Amino acid sequence: MASVTISNVRKNYGAVSVIHGVDIDILHGEFVVLVGPSGCGKSTLLRMIAGLEVISAGTISIEGKVVNQLEPKDRDIAMVFQNYALYPQMTVAQNMSFALELAKVDKATIKQKVDAAAAILGLEPLLDRKPAQLSGGQRQRVAMGRAIVRNPKVFLFDEPLSNLDAKLRVAMRAEIKSLHQRLGTTVVYVTHDQIEAMTMADKIVVLNAGRVEQIGTPLELYDRPINRFVAGFIGSPAMNFVRGTLLPGQAGLKVASGAVMVIGAYPSELVGHEVEFGIRPEHIQVADGGDLQARVEVVEPTGSETHVVVDAYGEKLVALIRRRMPISVGDTLPIAFEEGQAHLFDAESGKRLGVEASSC
Ligand SMILES: Nc1ncnc2c1ncn2[C@@H]1O[C@H](COP(=O)(O)OP(=O)(O)OP(=O)(O)O)[C@@H](O)[C@H]1O
Ligand SMILES: [Mg+2]
Repeated sequence: MASVTISNVRKNYGAVSVIHGVDIDILHGEFVVLVGPSGCGKSTLLRMIAGLEVISAGTISIEGKVVNQLEPKDRDIAMVFQNYALYPQMTVAQNMSFALELAKVDKATIKQKVDAAAAILGLEPLLDRKPAQLSGGQRQRVAMGRAIVRNPKVFLFDEPLSNLDAKLRVAMRAEIKSLHQRLGTTVVYVTHDQIEAMTMADKIVVLNAGRVEQIGTPLELYDRPINRFVAGFIGSPAMNFVRGTLLPGQAGLKVASGAVMVIGAYPSELVGHEVEFGIRPEHIQVADGGDLQARVEVVEPTGSETHVVVDAYGEKLVALIRRRMPISVGDTLPIAFEEGQAHLFDAESGKRLGVEASSC
């Protein structure tokens, strides 16, 4: 277990700057997930922690010790990649032993560590197989086994589950999480996947174009996104946004079509402000007595819930409905926004404005 401190870290590839001064404090034993759009710098940051990329400026410390100049092998870190990078000609046991053999660990200790990791990961029956004779999920477990035997201070994962099918992903997600709970090792985990980030993280770091947008617990980011970017990035289906001007007397939001949308209470000091009103799909209620009339454009049943795309005053909104209801394209539905669940962002800067979305 170890803490990792990233201070004002920058990365340039020649004249191109891709990480612009990132600060992240990772505590002992914490499970930290890095998320962000493709190309935002997640892998670059992870590779800098591992020592596989030179740090252009700033410092990375592990357990309080600056490691900028340390070789990857001296950082006591194990990295699991998306493509697993197993040696095809070696058996599972050899793949797992390899790093320890390089480190000149004695044979009996290697066997003991490999057996222990194999037991944790359910790999005992597979130790004599080659990678080509394994399923994707089994290969993934070997890659993790290879990391575990080294008993590192920090695990780094770069999208380790993205090659797996949906069912296996769910199973491996639970396995990695429970492994973390048992070993207590600090983890930095990169993913594209919303659900992975929300379910696995103690703390999520949202990156965008080489900068940190927000750091917080999954529910902090979900309930109180600091800006429009985070609000739109965290949550699936994504938050709805409607741009408009807040009218006096709590009348609502004047939208592009000129119509007024009733949005619930907002601070009176924001009257006249151009804003983006944000509402999550599950906070749009379809019910008699709803303030808005909305026309149904798309109905997407998923089984457990239904996503309904509606048009309200020229604005497209997605509502998530958990009850079974007879809804068809072309219907007109009364909808309402759940009180206390609105988010308001400055239309120009995207910054959150003074309303609280109460968490439930
Ligand atoms: N060797 C390199 N030379 C120049 N630019 C690079 C190099 N490696 C990465 N980049 C650039 O750095 C930026 C960050 O890349 P990085 O691989 O860290 O993104 P990422 O967040 O991991 O994306 P993805 O989700 O697609 O894996 C990208 O714009 C990429 O094009
Ligand atoms: Mg990447």
